[in-house]
Amino acid sequence: MNTQVDNNSFDLVWNYLENRHGYDFSEYSRSTIDRRIGQFMTREKLSSPTELMHKLMADKMFHVKMTEALTVNFTEMFRDASFFLSLTRKVLPFLSTYPSIKIWHAGCSTGEEVYSLAILLDEFELLHKTKIYATDMNETCLKAAERGIYSFEQIKNYTKNYRVSGGRKDFSMYYEAQDNGVKLNAYLKKNITFFQHNLATDHSFNEFHLILCRNVLIYFNRNLQTRVVDLFKNSLNNLGYLAIGNKENLLFNGQRNNFAFIDREEKIYRKVQFIDKKL
Ligand SMILES: C[S@@+](CC[C@H](N)C(=O)[O-])C[C@H]1O[C@@H](n2cnc3c(N)ncnc32)[C@H](O)[C@@H]1O
Repeated sequence: MNTQVDNNSFDLVWNYLENRHGYDFSEYSRSTIDRRIGQFMTREKLSSPTELMHKLMADKMFHVKMTEALTVNFTEMFRDASFFLSLTRKVLPFLSTYPSIKIWHAGCSTGEEVYSLAILLDEFELLHKTKIYATDMNETCLKAAERGIYSFEQIKNYTKNYRVSGGRKDFSMYYEAQDNGVKLNAYLKKNITFFQHNLATDHSFNEFHLILCRNVLIYFNRNLQTRVVDLFKNSLNNLGYLAIGNKENLLFNGQRNNFAFIDREEKIYRKVQFIDKKL
């Protein structure tokens, strides 16, 4: 079966997905999308873009399956522990001065990162006054995030990460063991709202003190990265914080004048007021 990706032959499929369902993959990194669509078609036993198009038109829910297969959803709790350590040392003390805190967690996948943040906020006695908006384009991931159930194997790793991240308590106090894994305590998600939001097509929906969007921009091309960082800039309060993945960069997209480094290694920035000296 030949599932080799030919960009031109896929144009119809991309146009259909965008016009019919509002998904725009045109500005994703080509190599990631090509590889994943090839894998998806092999799995679904589809041998050509025409067959894929027929399937999309015949099965009303197939577009969800397809678009979800195109994104990388890997995540874990306290991923890059040094990032969370830096967040607690360099950002939470400033956030604590606000009477209430609003955080946007964009590209939250299955929720592990959001719960990590909720735990640290709780340990800094900030969770009760924080509202976290956790978004992703992938509905299946969001449903898993809302359930907050993770395997025993995962929790073993997360416990290690938690300690390195500066966690102050016994990690097991945050979950209850069940037959099929562990369920995080309900109070952690009391102030989290999970909902679908597509960074490529949707707009800002509030103003935030902190935006986290880690390991998402890396899948976008420069143009889309610039648009999304612009969306973040416009969604941040004055002096709001932005955290991106440690392999991602703002230098590429003309935004460096709008942000100052808080932690260069961990890619934590703060929005600055750019003063045009000519005025
Ligand atoms: C690799 S995961 C990163 C998860 C988490 N932020 C972390 O660093 O562990 C990337 C996530 O970005 C989401 N994503 C990809 N494109 C998106 C878009 N256009 N809008 C919103 N979310 C998107 C995917 O569904 C996936 O859950």
